[in-house]
Amino acid sequence: MSSASCPPTTPGRHRRPRTAGVVTAALALCVAPVLTAGTAAAATTPDSLSKLYAASPKPTMGWNSWYGYGGFQFSGAHTVANITARNINSTKIRAEADALVSKGLKTAGYDTVWLDEGWWDGSRDANSHITVDTTNQWPSFTVGTKTYSAGMKGLADYIHDKGLKAGIYTDAGSTGCSSLNDGSYDNKQKDIDDFAAWGYDAVKIDFCGGLAEGRDPATTYAAYRHAILNNASGRTMAFNLCRWQYGSYMPVTANSWRTDLDIASVNADGSSTSGDGNFTLAKMLRNLDTNANTPSVAGPGHFNDPDYLLTGHDLDGVTTTSTDAISRSQVSMWAMMNAPLIIGTKASTLSAASVATLTNGEVIAVDQDSLGAQGVKVSEPSTGLQVWSKRLATSGTRAIALFNRTGTAANITVNFADTGLTSTDAVTLRDLWSKTDLPSKTGSYTTSVPAYSTVMLKATGTESSAWTDIDGTQSTSPAIASGGPDSADAFVRGTDGALYQKTWNGHSWTGAWANLGGPTGGTFTGTPAAVSDAPGQIDVAVRGTDNHLWHRAYRSGSWGSWEDLGGTIADSPAISSQHDNQLDVFVRGTDGALYQKSWDGTAWSSNWANLGGPSSGTFTGAPAAVSNASGRIDLAVRGTDNQLYHRAYYGGSWQAGWESLGGSITDSPAIASTGANRWNVFVHGTDGALYQKNWNGSAWDSNWTSLGGPTSSTFSGTPSAVSIGGSRLLVNVRGTDDHNYLKGMTSS
Ligand code: GLA
Repeated sequence: MSSASCPPTTPGRHRRPRTAGVVTAALALCVAPVLTAGTAAAATTPDSLSKLYAASPKPTMGWNSWYGYGGFQFSGAHTVANITARNINSTKIRAEADALVSKGLKTAGYDTVWLDEGWWDGSRDANSHITVDTTNQWPSFTVGTKTYSAGMKGLADYIHDKGLKAGIYTDAGSTGCSSLNDGSYDNKQKDIDDFAAWGYDAVKIDFCGGLAEGRDPATTYAAYRHAILNNASGRTMAFNLCRWQYGSYMPVTANSWRTDLDIASVNADGSSTSGDGNFTLAKMLRNLDTNANTPSVAGPGHFNDPDYLLTGHDLDGVTTTSTDAISRSQVSMWAMMNAPLIIGTKASTLSAASVATLTNGEVIAVDQDSLGAQGVKVSEPSTGLQVWSKRLATSGTRAIALFNRTGTAANITVNFADTGLTSTDAVTLRDLWSKTDLPSKTGSYTTSVPAYSTVMLKATGTESSAWTDIDGTQSTSPAIASGGPDSADAFVRGTDGALYQKTWNGHSWTGAWANLGGPTGGTFTGTPAAVSDAPGQIDVAVRGTDNHLWHRAYRSGSWGSWEDLGGTIADSPAISSQHDNQLDVFVRGTDGALYQKSWDGTAWSSNWANLGGPSSGTFTGAPAAVSNASGRIDLAVRGTDNQLYHRAYYGGSWQAGWESLGGSITDSPAIASTGANRWNVFVHGTDGALYQKNWNGSAWDSNWTSLGGPTSSTFSGTPSAVSIGGSRLLVNVRGTDDHNYLKGMTSS
């Protein structure tokens, strides 16, 4: 055996199941210097992300009324008196619900009947509760022996009786899209409570009124999130946010969010009599490409939304014969991006061919895969001929889309190495549209793809365990954090002493290294630590050249300023997050002991808690920390005897004693967790290689597994590791050539 570890350190990270809850970081005392500037970073949210995400762990599937029917038509100014047509009503919506069932769409998963604008004209009663037209639009009705009440509850009851869910619509502002005051701004909680009381299972919140009235989208939508999560009925309702462009607040606010403008339009007068609007290939590609810009913020319970499926619609600008190909491509690419699959065409008029396109269970399974990793484009061998890859929950599997955006049939080749599978092992392939197994291939696969169409494959091969050089010259060991499945951010200290960040989208590193400077003269010392405490949020901790601990937070799309957390620290820090907006930082004090400071969502603890150390109350190097649940933290440190030690916090207190995991390590360790009751430690062995040991759910592995290293099977300094969803981990190290190297692996 051998093993190892070292000096500076790295963090662990992470988040996954974060239940709400307050964790007290009560602690022993503090000795280390104190000092604290409690400029806390970011706005806090009392709402539980895990509760939000649980409302729709997988992308919603269903049907929406907008493109098929439109909303109101008016004679002149938009007033209730001028309404000449209410294009959705009980009869039409029930017919759509019936069609979802009779055409097999419900069985395939399309289970939500979602009303869009036009169900309500903005009227309210004396207590400001919504009132609707119960005479003509939503009257009472009887089916068989059952009579359903007039209004929105009766409709929801009918939808539920069909085994379906019901979705409803409002605007974040007051005025709404048709300027009828059909928005909820002044009545957020009241309206959401009414939707819940009527039995609705999903709410879409538009922003036409919000935009016209100059509402701040982040705070306004956060208020709606709060109303939904705290509705008076305690009802679970999925939240679709419709602001038509990505904003960094969205992944912590809603279950899905529209990333671009409408993919089609209804007629100028608000009707959609022909039902086809002006859906074009160009708009389909526009919404696809915009939606593809933010893959790393998607994950279970929070998804990018490129708008509705217009399967079978007539398309403006292409021949009718291309319609089926384009429909197939839209469903394929939406599935690759784990987008909500909401049918915008009238379900009641869908042809058998369109129904077949929408109900291919193997394609839908890609969309609904439990890992929730959004697929990305991995190559474009020639303009318009694209290869996309999506990591699936089962290790070694990918969904691959060969997408021909041109009007001419063409061969497209996928190189398996581009998808993160090895190029030397056989890959078994299944064509998901034809539902046939193909001969297995090694290295690559080429096939002809018809004009505008998409071939979808499921590939099963061997995960590559090669070290990938992600470039960049660093002067200390790196840190790595992950805010979502199959995505990560790496942090290094450049040769100029500043902090640099680069983002990994699951298949490649995007953009250049971003210079984040440093707290002391634009620099810091040692190894950075980083953790994502929510999708789209990152916290870094570093040791300044003044030996203070410094923290910097990425919130709402930008980095805040460096915050001095004081102390006189003797090595690099570690940082972990038990749940959204909770942070714990760990440092080695000048007395050699471990100290903790915590952010509870509002303030940093004023004192440093002394956690001692395994070797006469001390340890060496830098600590490592990871949190896999609220109320749980696991630490790894190198003792002065060069063994690895572990200590856990749960049940409200630090467990007594440090547990030796043995080894003879040469630098500080890393610790990561792939989920409940799973931990992975990584150390630097005396032979220069990386070694791993896992807690398998009931015991630590007895042996260390050598993982080699990127440069002559060795690396330099301290490893860093993070969970990226499912059983997958990423390890990030500095090669002996000072380059940054990454290795993906599956935890046992
Ligand atoms: C916006 C939305 C559409 C639809 C209409 C209703 O345009 O983006 O999806 O809800 O409003 O007016």
